[in-house]
Amino acid sequence: MLRTALFAAAAVVETTVFDKRDIRAPPVEHGRRARASITSTQGGISMHRRQWAAGAAASALLLGGLILTHTVDAKKSDQPPGKHQPPGKKKPPPPAAIYDPYPPGILPADIDAELARVLREIDGIEQEALAQLRALPPPVLTGQPPTLQGTGQRLIQLLGKAMNYDKNISPNRNQACASCHMPYVGFSGPIPSVNLTMVAYPGTVHFRAGKRTAQRYTYSPYFPVLHFNATQGLFFGGNFWDSRATGYILQQPDAEQAQHPPVDTQEMGNPDTACIAFKLSQAEYRPFFEQAWGAGSLDIKFPHDAEAICATPGGAAVFGTNVTPVRLKPADRLRANEAFNHWGQSVDAYEGSLDLSAFSSKFDAFLAGAATLTADEMAGYRLFDGKGNCNSCHVDGRGTTISTGQTDTSKAATVNPVFTCFGSANEGLPLNPRDAFFYQTTPDSFGFTANPLGFGYRDLGLGTFLRSGFGSAPNPNSTWTQFAPSVDGQFQVATARNVAMTSQCPTTEAPGPFFQKGFFHNGYIKSLKQLVHFYNTRDLYSFDVTSGHCPPGTTEKVDCWPRPEVPQNLDCTTGNLGLTDQEENQIVAFLQTLTDGFTTPYPDSDTFTGTCATGGTAATQGNESLIPTPPLPPCSPQVCGVPPLPSANVDGPLIPCPPS
Ligand code: HEC
Ligand code: HEC
Repeated sequence: MLRTALFAAAAVVETTVFDKRDIRAPPVEHGRRARASITSTQGGISMHRRQWAAGAAASALLLGGLILTHTVDAKKSDQPPGKHQPPGKKKPPPPAAIYDPYPPGILPADIDAELARVLREIDGIEQEALAQLRALPPPVLTGQPPTLQGTGQRLIQLLGKAMNYDKNISPNRNQACASCHMPYVGFSGPIPSVNLTMVAYPGTVHFRAGKRTAQRYTYSPYFPVLHFNATQGLFFGGNFWDSRATGYILQQPDAEQAQHPPVDTQEMGNPDTACIAFKLSQAEYRPFFEQAWGAGSLDIKFPHDAEAICATPGGAAVFGTNVTPVRLKPADRLRANEAFNHWGQSVDAYEGSLDLSAFSSKFDAFLAGAATLTADEMAGYRLFDGKGNCNSCHVDGRGTTISTGQTDTSKAATVNPVFTCFGSANEGLPLNPRDAFFYQTTPDSFGFTANPLGFGYRDLGLGTFLRSGFGSAPNPNSTWTQFAPSVDGQFQVATARNVAMTSQCPTTEAPGPFFQKGFFHNGYIKSLKQLVHFYNTRDLYSFDVTSGHCPPGTTEKVDCWPRPEVPQNLDCTTGNLGLTDQEENQIVAFLQTLTDGFTTPYPDSDTFTGTCATGGTAATQGNESLIPTPPLPPCSPQVCGVPPLPSANVDGPLIPCPPS
């Protein structure tokens, strides 16, 4: 039955839509490869999915292969459903083979159902955005310089909203920005099982995936352009965990950030930035784009094969090293580039709007004298800028009272703190062996390999970016490169705002009912209790082991913290705070006051249609999903051998903090 289905699929393949002058091989080639990859494993889908296949083989015997066929169909979910074309009509490209280089248990069992759930939620919010745009009175272009008077700002914000929830931007029309950033979790990752296991979210090509947690993007427009403060010897600003969206050209990191995912091979994966202009020109919200950015802004003459090129994911071998496969005349290329900038600026406008960065938490109400913190929340606040020393980096608008006996009786000097200093630090997170990135060592059906280094990869964060290194982005300022060894292992000080935001599930913390999140850049930490406990005891319970190998008698994350993935530049501000269990809980209670939506409803925060989890305890939440880290090969020369070299051997001895 499987064979019949595949052969039927094979029969529909024909048209050569690509222009061979530009691209080494037409797409029918990778279509063929894709099929080959399914058919060749036909007797053993097992090659793709060992664990699953064992069960399926048994079931298949019983049910005459029905289940097998069904599951394979479900795995073709890159294609929109209901696209069966009658013979003779224009044929859709064949579905790409599912890329599954993962050992059992890395991909969560409910991945297909969960991706479909999120897409349904996204479609709903997209309709809402279109309705909001239609209901908006058009602004009046007037004055010198001309200004969209009245509703201009809202127009651009709502345009950004329509873009954020537009799945058609991706080649397979199955992924929007919001696929990895939903409002009900403070615009972080919306799939509990992904947060628990593979950490990185699947891209438009299932199941390519990135390497880090989907960062919350509330308040990210507040980060300044990345800059080096020579007096402090520190970097501030930029977006992304490694600050690689510097803002050097648009002078707004968040606008530049929005230009990465659409062409990130493991995310929305377009092969050419002109594909974004192409898709905007077909978008339902095109009239609003033209209203905001000018009539004619999308009048671009696209070649006949733009549709086919933009339906092929980036990284496909057919493109070779060509990053502009859509052939445009210079004037059209310019216009497409401009539309791509306006895409970034519109998305940025949405992210900075009161819809997202709302300053509407209980803590904001408290600062305005309009709410009272509970005794625990208040104690947590005191600890946050006192004994916990969190305020040194997550600036809350007050001084620190870290010395014993110090009390601060002044009013908060800043009433709109964003709970970050915009800097970076290495908090010493252990390598998370569940991270999907480590396993993508073989080519997918397009000939693309995300991580040829496998477990030889190490995430040096900002250090790798400054070296324009593997897995980051080109650094636009070569005078920064020399500082790479001093920032290896550093990641952005994320705002603490909205870290506790959840869906209709009341909390992030077991026993719940809770929404499972993954915290920090690699999702190693699974609850806020663990997060605070990590800051509190990292150095107290430090063991020179990798995750999954804590000594007998200890419990990982409770009284054993494995060695940092990157031992250099370990931050010693925290690590042994001497907080009691109750004080840890009070800091968690304080973090929970930073969730927007207290003073005014938070838009679209009720759109979660999945289920909440229950059971367990916050201290060991997710520990059942720990897996032993395999014996690690040395850090690959492609990461650790790029000059200027890291200050010490990344795999070498621990560099402990001085005893406190
Ligand atoms: C496949 C999942 C995925 C998709 C799709 C995606 N993101 Fe992200 N996003 C991430 C991950 C993962 C990170 C952190 C990546 C890193 O630091 O390397 C991130 C980081 C960000 C940040 C940085 C926040 C900060 O404070 O630095 C912003 C802003 C953001 N995404 C916005 C967007 C927008 C806008 C889109 C659509 C154009 C989008 N994302 C699409 C996964 C995704
Ligand atoms: C030296 C600076 C520094 C101090 C002090 C500090 N943090 Fe952080 N914080 C960071 C950095 C850097 C990150 C991101 C680290 C990473 O992902 O590797 C972060 C991330 C966070 C996050 C966001 C996690 C997420 O997934 O978005 C929260 C919440 C947080 N810290 C709370 C605290 C609390 C509570 C304290 C005090 C107990 C504290 N921090 C002390 C630097 C600091």
